[in-house]
Amino acid sequence: MTSHQIALVKESFEKIRPAAQSAGELFYLNLFEMAPQARALFKTPIPEQAGKLMYTLSYVVNHLHTPETIMDDVRRLAIKHHNYGASPGHYEIVGMALLKTLSQGLADIWDNELEEAWKAAYAMVANAMRSASLEHEKLAA
Ligand code: HEM
Repeated sequence: MTSHQIALVKESFEKIRPAAQSAGELFYLNLFEMAPQARALFKTPIPEQAGKLMYTLSYVVNHLHTPETIMDDVRRLAIKHHNYGASPGHYEIVGMALLKTLSQGLADIWDNELEEAWKAAYAMVANAMRSASLEHEKLAA
């Protein structure tokens, strides 16, 4: 990611922060509309799950300048996801649901540049999670 993209993601996330809980819940509505079959994987009540997601998103956004410092946490999260039944293909749908949610929550400032910045941020985390998950699978085999 460029420093400009990092700045765009950080600034726009500040606008979401006051409504983080409802943005998180909207994310799961979007996700289950796009991928109804994913609903069965979630056992935790959605309001609680939404809180966890937004907490993690905030943690990632706060560390975009130093992503290497959170890679151990990202890898741990990936292994949990492997056990939850999240497949590599799911990451693309989750990314689409996240972008849709952000485009709704940030409708007044949403443009191609902001979309590309968020795509880059999501790709960084999703790629790290996907490879950690595949690595974990290989070691377990
Ligand atoms: C960058 C992408 C993602 C992030 C940041 C993320 C974040 C999280 C967090 C923070 C939790 C809670 C973990 C805990 O309780 O310790 C969680 C749980 C979960 N996530 Fe994700 N997630 C991502 C991608 C995905 C994908 C692609 C799927 C696939 C459908 C998925 C499905 C789940 C499921 C099934 C749970 C467990 C829910 C439960 O406890 O009932 N996540 N996720």
